[in-house]
Amino acid sequence: MQRTAATGLLLAADAMLPAWARRWPELKQSPYNTSDKINSFEDITTYNNFYEFGTGKKDPHKNATEFNPAPWTITVEGECDKPGVFDLEDFITPGALEERIYRLRCVEGWSMVIPWVGFSLADMLKKFEPNSKAKYVEFTTLLDKSRMPGQKRRVLHWPYVEGLRIDEAMNELPIMAVGLYGEALPNQNGAPIRLVVPWKYGFKSIKSIVKIRFTETQPQTTWNKTGPTEYGFYSNVNPTVDHPRWSQKKERVIGEAFWKPKRETQMFNGYGEQVAHLYNGMDLKKYF
Ligand code: MTE
Repeated sequence: MQRTAATGLLLAADAMLPAWARRWPELKQSPYNTSDKINSFEDITTYNNFYEFGTGKKDPHKNATEFNPAPWTITVEGECDKPGVFDLEDFITPGALEERIYRLRCVEGWSMVIPWVGFSLADMLKKFEPNSKAKYVEFTTLLDKSRMPGQKRRVLHWPYVEGLRIDEAMNELPIMAVGLYGEALPNQNGAPIRLVVPWKYGFKSIKSIVKIRFTETQPQTTWNKTGPTEYGFYSNVNPTVDHPRWSQKKERVIGEAFWKPKRETQMFNGYGEQVAHLYNGMDLKKYF
């Protein structure tokens, strides 16, 4: 955007808005950005998995319009020296925000490339001073049937819970996303704040987070509880480990014509250089 006196005023006004309503037109670019073709705003916001708003791909777009993600607090607890209840605003340091263009590879066999706005998960977690017993980090989505109507149906164990090993969480790649396409996160994409872990299947990237807990033992995650033989704790993108009911070798790129060949799925979604060392010596068929 070209800056003029008028846009300057607009941006100043924008900075006074709550985080969930903001726009960030000029963001620093991350060195980890993929140069793959970015999906359209429409693809990204109308083809979603967010079971709290329905199980169909179009449901979150239709059913999350009334959801009001403000005010929003996040409770931080467990094995750390600086726990507390924080406002969303406490997490968003404007200078730390950047655009991270990552491919989201869903376990169902499709993918899309999303220009997230976010900040480093590791930088955020360090502020809470995890102690030596903090071996894992658990994340929890809001539980509120009146605001998330999909929770009235027992399709999953509510609230949605996800987790990472502490060294995975402290890697440079995961971000807490608060926006996409330079604007505040649309409700269907996990407003006002969600996790994005680019080398793992999309379901690890939990939406609308209200709690972060440092734990000594491996968290019980929603999909792992729902189908332990189908969804492991690690859930690394891995073309050599099939889902019990389908292959993970290829993926359909959302937005591409159906007749186009599928894309070959890459190990760790293409981030082996940054993350393969985290799994040295581990049998990734056993720890899938
Ligand atoms: N987080 C919550 N709370 N509920 C969900 O149903 N679905 C997951 C993940 N995070 C989900 C969630 C799955 S399966 C995927 S593929 C991604 O969100 C999809 O993210 P997107 O809709 O923003 O593309």
